[in-house]
Amino acid sequence: MIETKRMIVEPTPEQAAAKAADIFKSIVLETLRQRDVCHLALSGGTTPRSMYHHLANRALGDNVPWSKVEVYFGDERDVPQDDVESNFGMAQKVLLDNTPIDWSRVHAMRADAKDIDSAAREYEATIRHLVPAGPEGIPQFDLVMLGMGGDGHVASLFPHTEILAETQRLVAACHVPVLGRNRMTFSFPLINAARNILLLVTGDDKAEVIERVFKHGDRELPAARVDPRHGTMHVVLDTAAARLV
Ligand code: 6PG
Repeated sequence: MIETKRMIVEPTPEQAAAKAADIFKSIVLETLRQRDVCHLALSGGTTPRSMYHHLANRALGDNVPWSKVEVYFGDERDVPQDDVESNFGMAQKVLLDNTPIDWSRVHAMRADAKDIDSAAREYEATIRHLVPAGPEGIPQFDLVMLGMGGDGHVASLFPHTEILAETQRLVAACHVPVLGRNRMTFSFPLINAARNILLLVTGDDKAEVIERVFKHGDRELPAARVDPRHGTMHVVLDTAAARLV
C-alpha cells in the first residue's frame, strides 16, 4: 500500500469530531469488507472522547458491526479501570457501553498492575497473538486512534522520554517525569505499522504545535514521528488548530 497522509480541516471542534467519527466508521466498514475482524486501538483524551460521543449517539453506532471489532488501547494511565482518569473507563462509559460490542474482544491495558512491565509484556503478547502481522512482521492494526497533547505527545509517548527511541518492544511501561506517573503505551514501531492512523486535534492552544509538526516536521515532538510505513494517516483538525498550517 502506498503511504499517504491526508489532512482534513473542519470549521468547529464539533464538526471535526463528527468527521473523525465518519472516517472511523468508513475504516471499520472497509476493513470488514476485506476481513472478518477489525483490530483497532482507542485513545484517551477529551478530543477523542468527543468523537466517541458521535460514534455512540449517532446512527453510526447502529450500523457499525461492533461484534466484529476487536478493541485495544493505545495507552493507559496507572489507575484502576473505574478511575475517572482511566482511558478504558472513559471509552467504556462514552462509547463501548452504548454499542453491541463483544466484551470478550475488548482488551484493557492493566497499567495499574503491581508489575506494570510484566503487564506490558503480556499485552504485547496478546497483540502478537491476535493481530495479523503486516509487511515487516509487526502486528498491523487496521486503525490506531490518536489525540495529541499540548506538548505534542501522542498515546503516552511524551517528549524527551526514553520510550521514543524504543525499536523492539511494541508495548511498554514508561515513567513520565512531567506527570510524575507511570503509563503503558504502544511504541512507535507498533503505531507506525498500522494500516490507518486517525489523529484528531482541535483547539487554538494546539495550533503552534500543529505548525511545528506538519510544517516543520519538528521531531522533538512525538506527533511528528507518527508516520505509517505501509498505511494512511488521516489528520482531522478544526480551523483553530489548523490556523498556522
Ligand atoms: C492520554 C491520551 C493522550 C491524549 C492526548 C490528547 O492518555 O492522555 O492517550 O495521548 O490523546 O493527551 O488529549 P486531549 O484531547 O485531552 O488534549
